[in-house]
Amino acid sequence: MSNKLKHKIFEKISQVADQMQMETYVIGGFVRDIYINRPSKDIDIVTVGSGIELAKNVAKNLKPKPQVNIFKNYGTAMLKYKDMEIEFVGARKESYQRDSRKPIVENGTLEDDQNRRDFTINALALGLNQSNFGELVDPFNGIDDLKNKIIRTPLDPDITFTDDPLRIMRAIRFSTQLGFEINETTLQSITKNRERIKIISGERIIDELNKIMMSPKPSIGFKLLEETGLLKIIFPELQQLKGVDKVNGIGHKDNFYHTLEVLDRIVPNTENLWLRWSALLHDIAKPATKKFIEGQGWTFHAHNFIGVKMIPRIFRRMKLPLNEKMKYVQKMVHLHMRPIVLSEEEVTDSAVRRLLFEAGDDIDDLMTLCEADITSKNSEKVKRYLNNFQLVRQKLKEIEEKDAVRNFQPPIDGELIMKTFSISPCREVGLIKDAIKDAILDGDIQNNYEEAFEFMMKKAVELGLKKEV
Ligand code: CTP
Repeated sequence: MSNKLKHKIFEKISQVADQMQMETYVIGGFVRDIYINRPSKDIDIVTVGSGIELAKNVAKNLKPKPQVNIFKNYGTAMLKYKDMEIEFVGARKESYQRDSRKPIVENGTLEDDQNRRDFTINALALGLNQSNFGELVDPFNGIDDLKNKIIRTPLDPDITFTDDPLRIMRAIRFSTQLGFEINETTLQSITKNRERIKIISGERIIDELNKIMMSPKPSIGFKLLEETGLLKIIFPELQQLKGVDKVNGIGHKDNFYHTLEVLDRIVPNTENLWLRWSALLHDIAKPATKKFIEGQGWTFHAHNFIGVKMIPRIFRRMKLPLNEKMKYVQKMVHLHMRPIVLSEEEVTDSAVRRLLFEAGDDIDDLMTLCEADITSKNSEKVKRYLNNFQLVRQKLKEIEEKDAVRNFQPPIDGELIMKTFSISPCREVGLIKDAIKDAILDGDIQNNYEEAFEFMMKKAVELGLKKEV
């Protein structure tokens, strides 16, 4: 493995550690990633002694000399070298107080330090002193777990998880990112200790959840969260989607599994976290709007509108951003059925223009969401929908080229309406504005000043703002 430590930085650290006679290792995620060929720029160095002193001396030996950031409270030091971030820490024995993540830290040996890490695959260490350069220290057989794709804690999982409950989320996140299985006792312990997640801040939980969202198959993580009972604690609205009600033997689809299928299906088509969130939330209001109507079956009337209303509360609680990212998700949820409805009917120019106007520059993302949303088991039906979608896309292109309504601004604004009829802001101004917009989108008039002006004059007569001439 020493060829993996070819980078000059390891040679430097090795020299300095030998000079200072400090037993030193590279440890944790960086070592794990070497063995699974995953690129990594974060290097963790552990030394038996002072990590801060070691970092200072390593920095002195580098050109140009990097700045060392010292975190005295934690006994750690960090420096940046080229494109890498290197963190130095003294080996520790740690125990945690029950109701907080704040550890009581004592100096320890390498073994102590490995014992207190989260998973066997994250406890691997490679020697950096000349006497053992590149040699693997693997007391828990993490290498085998890497080969067999298993997540397991080094100690009794109850100890590892009560020490730091964030690790509950990390286990599920690593399982999702790497496609590894969580071993049985570790999984049982997650279920048993799930309530401890409540002492973890929302920011840290959402970091892990977003990593799950950006994984190749996010459904793995959400199914694990559900099975272990964590989902109802951290994301009750999503939990609510699970299950099927029946009336007169008629059921509806399970919206939890449907949602996860949509999420997995959108992944290959977008790296945009917020479009993925839109997929996760597109049907979030289905439980709240569910109704069985005789003769119609199950309905979820206005679930898109109610979904839009639920989003700010979810985002606030989950410490997601309350800015334009949220607005984008709301827009996607609001419009998510529109292209489907459109493809079911005859695709008229006017309906396409309206969709373009409302979706604006996000129209392509909306189409991507809609295509992912078609999850019927009936392959004929899926084929028919996807063909219709081709038609909608084609039509969108034609209309956009012809009418440019994507970022449409009506040629007449409120100011001009008020000036023309000598009125102050009032209901009629809004009515005229909307009527002009509708007339253009419906194709009744062309999108230009002259036709809009003429239309405005007619409308004003109707509203009694002006006498007929
Ligand atoms: N670690 C731990 N418990 C935690 C967080 C981290 O034991 N709650 C240990 C693990 O040994 C981990 C190392 O600290 O490998 C570095 O943590 P971090 O940088 O957060 O994670 P990585 O394992 O490097 O993985 P990633 O970069 O994908 O988050």
